[in-house]
Amino acid sequence: MKRFMMMVVVGVSSGALAGGFELKGDAAKGEAQYKTMCVSCHGEKGDGAGPAGGALTPKPTSFIDPANAARLTDEYTYKVIKEGGAAVGKSPLMVAWAASMKDDELRNVTAYVLKFKPAAAKKK
Ligand code: HEC
Repeated sequence: MKRFMMMVVVGVSSGALAGGFELKGDAAKGEAQYKTMCVSCHGEKGDGAGPAGGALTPKPTSFIDPANAARLTDEYTYKVIKEGGAAVGKSPLMVAWAASMKDDELRNVTAYVLKFKPAAAKKK
């Protein structure tokens, strides 16, 4: 009986770990990546108005637009950046960055992008 209880406890706690997504990114470190790889389309202010972005259809996402804030969760944003727009039904002009960045760099740049979200949307 004692052994059975142990198994139940272990099973429940590992299940909880598998379900939760933790970004663990460092926005301060992600800034450099953003400025070299993302600014041309998404813009310095994260408003989607970078110099190369204007010519694209659809336009690069504005991270500061409250209308996009609910969609841009930690997990979703990390996935788009890692796997590209096509992986989430968005434009393939947003390429997958997994080949150009290590996982911790992907997480850092994600954290930096999330800082552009309007203050009200950050409170979950
Ligand atoms: C060549 C231009 C270009 C570059 C460079 C670029 N993106 Fe994008 N990105 C796009 C476009 C276009 C979309 C919009 C896709 C859509 O609306 O279908 C997008 C969408 C996104 C989205 C949100 C998807 C959504 O649901 O609206 C995120 C997050 C994102 N990009 C992050 C990044 C990051 C981080 C970088 C740098 C590592 C980057 N992008 C570089 C063009 C670009």
